[in-house]
Parts: sequence; structure tokens; C-alpha cells
Amino acid sequence: MSSEKVSVHGSWASRWVFILAATGSAVGLGSIWKFPYMVGEYGGGAFVLVFLACIALIGVPVMLAETLIGRRARQSPANALAALARDVGQPAAWSWAAFAGMLTALLILSFYSVVGGWSFDYILDMAKGDFQGVTPDQVGAYFGNVIGDPLRLIFWHSVFMFTSAVVIAKGVVGGLERSLRIMMPLLFVLLLVLLGYSMTTGHFMQGLHFMFDFDASKVLDGLLPAMGHAFFSLSVGVGSIMIYGAYMPKSASIGGTIVSVALLDTFVSLLAGVALFPIVFAAGLNPSEGPGLMFVTLPYAFGSVPFGQVMGVVFFILVGVAAWSSAISLLEPMVAYLVERHKISRAWVSTWLALACWLFGLGTVFSFNLWKEAKFFVNDAAGFHLYQWGAQAGLDFFGVVDFFTSRIMLPLGGLCFAVFAGWVMGRAAVRDELAMRHPLAFEATFFLMRYVAPCGILIVFAAQLWK
Ligand code: PFF
Repeated sequence: MSSEKVSVHGSWASRWVFILAATGSAVGLGSIWKFPYMVGEYGGGAFVLVFLACIALIGVPVMLAETLIGRRARQSPANALAALARDVGQPAAWSWAAFAGMLTALLILSFYSVVGGWSFDYILDMAKGDFQGVTPDQVGAYFGNVIGDPLRLIFWHSVFMFTSAVVIAKGVVGGLERSLRIMMPLLFVLLLVLLGYSMTTGHFMQGLHFMFDFDASKVLDGLLPAMGHAFFSLSVGVGSIMIYGAYMPKSASIGGTIVSVALLDTFVSLLAGVALFPIVFAAGLNPSEGPGLMFVTLPYAFGSVPFGQVMGVVFFILVGVAAWSSAISLLEPMVAYLVERHKISRAWVSTWLALACWLFGLGTVFSFNLWKEAKFFVNDAAGFHLYQWGAQAGLDFFGVVDFFTSRIMLPLGGLCFAVFAGWVMGRAAVRDELAMRHPLAFEATFFLMRYVAPCGILIVFAAQLWK
């Protein structure tokens, strides 16, 4: 296979643009909204530690595998896997891993857009001054009202999905660069400002202890959730990073670039957690509050400091943009595939895909109101039921989609990509694509990709089953 191929969808102007786009994909609601509430739900330090180990030993090797597959083939994930497999006399059926990834990405987008919509909603609420001087209980009630109103959620879900579709229809390469160059650093600065505020709450150390004190008895419970979230947070396992890799210039070094993106993403997650928990404790909120954690904690913080109103508006705009740049990367693999395959226009494909995700996303909207009582996989004193209305235990519709995507499909996708790079493509092709200067660095990376990541994923699955 020649490595001089060029993608038909365009290519990033430089390594920096790839870093921006990949960081834009990785940093999003996963770091700022999901990571803190998962830390709260799965007991703090043990979850954080397992998450970090999963990022280093599994997430980064899979991310490298995805990027190098994409850049080698310069096509959408499904066609990339098929072409590279054929090159080495293996079945083109490998492309099924990419099809599964595309479906997973669309499922993720369906709920991602709903939560992205909450951020958009909060921009206006902040600007109106709804949170000035309110108590934590009042913010909690406010959030309850927001998610309890299906029409309001549908409106913002539609705005989020529509704007994402417009950008993707215009083409990823180009549009993203300009906005991300400003927005990403600004988001980072605002998180630092929040961190500064956390330090003044008098509960900073309590927050740090919660985030980093290790309690071995909690490790097993948080194992699969932490691994799943490592994939979610890095955007790996669905082909998003693979398609971005396909647009990466040949001259860029994959190793250094991917490690930078993973470090940035992890840093933002930790920063969000360290900034958030002291405020949670200061406000007497419950760390295991669930998906509402950030939407209750931060408005309260912004509502009680000077200039908080302006900072709050800017913060939710930035969260919205971070979510938006991730959403775009969720749609891109499928859009690129359909454009390659059927030669139809990006605009047409983007519109229909966004519409399908929007429709499915209504399930997530209703999980917080009309279908709140609908529970799946209920396992309580009365035994196991696939579905029960009004049960205490079990998962709601959003919970099912989140569980299926983050905990099952992303790790399975990652397993396929790591095995493909480590065992199917062959050492020579991987070495050529990674182009690492030190042979030892290559050997270590290849070892992680070939053995550590796949075994790690299987061990976590096994531990979950036998727990
Ligand atoms: N990494 C994104 C976040 O943390 O918000 C979410 C995401 C984007 C997951 C793209 C998967 C993906 F392919």
C-alpha cells in the first residue's frame, strides 16, 4: 500500500490543526460533565486511578492504532479496514468493526446532543441572571424544572443537532480550525478561574481527598465504567480518531501528537473534577447526584461570585462549543463513508443522519420526564425483568444507551482496532506509519498495542462478568 494517498475529503493544513481537531473531539461533555459525575458515582479516588491507568495502558495505544490505520489508508474507517486487510490477504469483513463503530457514534450523538442542548439552555438562563444569589436547593429545583420539561429539552436538542449538522455539511477541515483555536484555550482559562474560586471555598482539600484518596474496595465496581469512560473521553473505539487520522499530513509524528491530545484531554478532566468537588462540598450537594452534577454545582458557584454572571455565560458557551466539536467528530465517520461509497453530497447525508440521531435522542429527552418511570434490566428483590414501569432499580432509556455504547461497544471497537494494528497489519507497516525515531520506543508502543491493550480490555470484561 502506498503511503502517499490523499483523502478525498481534504486534509488538515498541519500537525497543529490535527491536534486542535482531535483535542476538540476528545475534550467535550465527557471531560466536563460526565467525568465528575462518574467520579462521584463510583466513589472518588479509586475510579480516578483506574481511569488514568486505562487511559495510559489501553486508551492511548488504541488511539495510536486508530490514527495509524486511518492515515495509512486515507479513507473512511470502513473502507480503510477493508483496504488494509485486503493488502495483507485478510478478509475485508474487518470493515464490520467500523460499521459497528459508526452505529455506536450515532447512538452516542443522540444523547450527546440532548446534554449539549442543556448547555445552550444554560447560556440564556445565566444571561438572564436566573442564578444570581440562589441557594444550592434552588439551583437543584431549577435544573429539575429544565429536564422535567420535554418541549424545552426538544427545542435545545434540535438547536444543537441542527448547528452540528450545518458545520459538518460544510466539511470538517477548514471550519473547525478557526473556532477551536480561540475556544479551546479560553475554556481552559475559565476552568482555571473556577479552580481559583474552588480554592476559596474552604473545602478544597476535601475535594482533593475525594478525587485522589484510594479505596481498594471500590476498584472492582468502577472498573468497567472507568475503562468505558477512558474510551469515551478520548473519542476512541468508534472510528472518529481514525477518520481524523486519515486527514493527517504524512510528515506529522503520530506518537507525539496522540500523546499530547490524550494528555490535554486527561488534564481537562482532572481540572474539571478538582475545580468542581470543592464547590459540591461547600454547597452541601451530593457528589453522587448523577448527570445533573455539573448543571447544579456550577450555576450555584457562578451565582455567588462577582462577575459570575458574565463568566457563567462564557463558560456555558465554551462547553457548548466543546460539545459541538465532539459531536461533529461523531458524525464524520459515517458521513465520510456514505460520501465515498455513494458519491452523494455531504449536505444531504449530514441532514438525514442528524435527523435520525435527533429522533432517537427523543428517547433520552423523555428519560428525564415522560418516561422517567420506564426502567430496563431491572434486577431487584422480585427477580430480573427486562422492562418494568415504576421500578426503583434498573436503567432508564438514556442509561441503556449510555451503558451499551460506553461500556460495551467502545471497548469492543477498541479491541478490534488494536488487534487489527497489532496482529493484522503487521509490524513493518505499523513501524513505517509510526516512524518513531527510537527503536525501543517503537517496540514498547507496539507491545502495548499488540498485547497490553487487547488483554487489558478482555481482563476488564472478564472481571465484570465474574464480579
Ligand atoms: N470525547 C468526547 C467527550 O469526552 O465529550 C465524546 C466522544 C466524541 C466520544 C467522539 C466518542 C467519539 F467518537
